[in-house]
Amino acid sequence: MTTIGKDISVAKRLLENGEAVAIPTETVYGLGANALNPEAVLKIFEAKNRPQFNPLIVHTHSWEAAMNYVQNVPAIAHHLAKKFTPGPLTFLLEKKEIVPDLVTAGSDLVAVRIPDHSLTLELLSILDFPLAAPSANQFGYISPTTAAHVLNSLEGKIEYILDGGQTTVGLESTIIGFNESGNIIVYRVGGITVEALEKEIGERVNFAQQNPHKNPQTAGQLKSHYAPETALYIGDITELAQKYAGRKMAIMSFSHDYKNLEADHHFILSKDADLSEAATNLFATLRKIDQLDLEIIVAEYMPDEGLGKAINDRLKRAQALYKQ
Ligand code: TXA
Ligand code: MG
Repeated sequence: MTTIGKDISVAKRLLENGEAVAIPTETVYGLGANALNPEAVLKIFEAKNRPQFNPLIVHTHSWEAAMNYVQNVPAIAHHLAKKFTPGPLTFLLEKKEIVPDLVTAGSDLVAVRIPDHSLTLELLSILDFPLAAPSANQFGYISPTTAAHVLNSLEGKIEYILDGGQTTVGLESTIIGFNESGNIIVYRVGGITVEALEKEIGERVNFAQQNPHKNPQTAGQLKSHYAPETALYIGDITELAQKYAGRKMAIMSFSHDYKNLEADHHFILSKDADLSEAATNLFATLRKIDQLDLEIIVAEYMPDEGLGKAINDRLKRAQALYKQ
């Protein structure tokens, strides 16, 4: 049976016993387990149906604590950590021996992050190990932004979901790495905007084409991911709604209501055209639509700036499954 609760001592006991526990973060809920214990980490892959070539992010309660697991950290990483952590920024860094291969899928880089959520920070600070945690959903499906979403995806597969309320950011962390010259490479756009990173470092960032790790691609780089079950089409909403007229349809728009168009349901991500509100609402809205038993979701891209870039990235991947 899976219980939802707010008791970090329950979470602690289960984690110490090598179990996987769902934890809240500011981005999406994670499915955490002792990162230093491969048997515990295996339970994450099993519960999620996640292929083992897909490496996991290691979560710690502070940047200092993260330093126990990484080495040869470039100065710019320290600088960015000071500015953005705790927060939705994940660092790909050279791993220390102590990090199991299962966590990194054999790579000599490990992803580390300090989540900005009081309950989880408290939990991490009373554990004497870090938590490996991917998003707490079935592999390939939409990431969970509430404890109820986690229950929906993982009921019966884990014992405990630590309930920290609705996540505030609503999109996964931004993942960055560093090349030999110390330049920043963005592997996944997310909760920390590209503009904020560039402002901080005073130069343009580069975007990864290919994972540094040869065999796996990061899920953030899989073409199709984060996908609802209902077919999603993105473009000009008016044109798409006409093209698919007569089908059972939801319209999901940024801020305009499109009430003039015929559809079974209309969803607006942010009436005030606020990208951070749209980000917070995106995954919950897609999950809601998936419950409605419709044939089609017609949606539009956000303005390609700030968090809009990350939202558009998720929309693109969610759509890829249904492209003919
Ligand atoms: O906001 C987040 O990052 C959430 C919360 C729970 O922290 N976590 C999350 O985890 O989104 P996940 O596993 O769904 O996505 C993490 C991405 C994956 O695409 C994974 O392949 C990549 O990070 N990653 C992790 N470790 C890596 C490594 N050593 N090398 C390359 N990519 C890595
Ligand atoms: Mg995920």
